Amino acid sequence: MTEALRWWRSAIVYQIYIRSFADGNGDGIGDIAGLRNRLPYLRRLGVDALWINPWYRSPMRDGGYDVADFRAIDPSFGTLSEAEALIRESHELGLRVLLDLVPNHLSDQHARFLQALSAGPGSPARAWFIFRDGRGQAGAEPPNDWRSNFGGPAWTRVTERDGRPGQWYLHLFAPEQPDLDWTNPRVRNEFSETMRFWFELGVDGFRIDVAHGLAKAEGLPDVGGIVWPPVAGAWVEHPHWDRDEVHEIYREWRALADEYEDPRVFVAEAWVHDSERLARYVRADELHAAFNFDFLLAPWEAEAMRRSIEATLRSHAAVDAVPTWVLSNHDTVREVSRYAREPDPAHPGPLLKLDDVLALPADPALGLRRARAAALLMLALPGGAYIYQGEELGLPEVEDLPDEALQDPGWELSGHSERGRDGCRVPIPWSGTAAPFGFSPRDTNAEPWLPQPAAWRELTVAAQDAEEGSTLELYRRALAIRREHPALGDGELTWLPAPAGALAFTREPGFACIVNMSADDPVPIPRGAVPLIASDPLTHDHRVPPDTAVWVTTAREESRK
Ligand code: GLC
Ligand code: CA
Repeated sequence: MTEALRWWRSAIVYQIYIRSFADGNGDGIGDIAGLRNRLPYLRRLGVDALWINPWYRSPMRDGGYDVADFRAIDPSFGTLSEAEALIRESHELGLRVLLDLVPNHLSDQHARFLQALSAGPGSPARAWFIFRDGRGQAGAEPPNDWRSNFGGPAWTRVTERDGRPGQWYLHLFAPEQPDLDWTNPRVRNEFSETMRFWFELGVDGFRIDVAHGLAKAEGLPDVGGIVWPPVAGAWVEHPHWDRDEVHEIYREWRALADEYEDPRVFVAEAWVHDSERLARYVRADELHAAFNFDFLLAPWEAEAMRRSIEATLRSHAAVDAVPTWVLSNHDTVREVSRYAREPDPAHPGPLLKLDDVLALPADPALGLRRARAAALLMLALPGGAYIYQGEELGLPEVEDLPDEALQDPGWELSGHSERGRDGCRVPIPWSGTAAPFGFSPRDTNAEPWLPQPAAWRELTVAAQDAEEGSTLELYRRALAIRREHPALGDGELTWLPAPAGALAFTREPGFACIVNMSADDPVPIPRGAVPLIASDPLTHDHRVPPDTAVWVTTAREESRK
């Protein structure tokens, strides 16, 4: 396969949470028209591809991850012909387009589920989903002990056509997201057809939602005392996460993607918390890439980061796959706000959800400084990387959304004990000094679907554009260097000796990255090296201050030899 056909091995993919990216028609909700207007911005930023979160017809109980029709665009986002135009225009600008495939569940408003409800127990229509009789007296207890990811039981009981309480259906997420039964060949076939539908329209690939959840253990045994995520190094078989049977599905998909002359690609969302298990998703005949959440979850601590990077490189090399680095997405607290907190020995464990960080004191300036350094670290590592919209502006998590603004289903389903993920989904500030900051067209009075903080006036694209030292310019420059430099992207890394609290590595030819993650002394760069870009100013003698990263070229030294 030619290098161009292996583009994904080095790609920088920009994640578009479409509802919050840009609003074209002035109703306060991001849409395809808004995204089309902003394609030149993405081109100039210097990314290779877009991943667009679900834009299919949906009742939006879970931000579009409750799909009612995979082959239609939700009217709040636009039309299918606008989608086609977007794909075409992106390609004209050299941007590939990845969509989001949600195979674990459908919306309860999907025709298949409505049919399943009316067709009754034992029918082929019900066999699309996971319906079971309840346990206990008159089947009044759920069929097993599984819990929904959003809180509460993973089962909901339906009322049968005769008006009596009937079977239960499984939903690992919200009750409006019934799980599909992937042992049913009809389900498999339907998804293959859906993929073909989009591939024919020119889509370059899919991000696979909940890729570790499709297979359920036969007989649906109780979870019992099994802890998930597993404690590192102690993998345990779980009745519905990361089961070996999922891989058979991905082999089928890979064969489908490879049928195309310009092969289509997949990236897995698989929360498996173990590099070895993750690498199984990217074996040669399976998916192309898988988000490395271990890196995302690692604290700002050199040893922890280095361990995470090493384990990832090792496990991926073993299956000849490239790592996929990511610092945040629409489900996690933005890294500026995570890194603003010091790990708290009293609350060990990664900072992932808003409630994990709210309890800890924050230093926002420090968080931004570290996030900028993390960006240079990530973009220097071997493989591909994803940038979540707003990351290039240094946006923090919005931690103080009022209760009445919250829309994440987790807020209600947890009985208001988890505030959920809305804080990383606040609409992007483009320009101006007051909300909606150019998110909606100027001549409309639309309110963005989530309120933007007034302080974001300093973080708009317009405010950072051409502004020396802005986070946006840091990303633009880093991406431009990465595009040109032969050492970056796919390839290998060699660690350099570094003082405690720092990371240093070379990439050939002639490149090194040094990150000082400690609060102590500035760290020297290799002898003869010349700085290319730094996340914050170096000392006057070119040493790397705390919470700063630098890229250097070591080529001069080479040529002197
Ligand atoms: C994935 C999505 C998340 C969604 C869930 C259920 O984790 O990223 O946003 O809520 O799947 O589809
Ligand atoms: Ca809109």
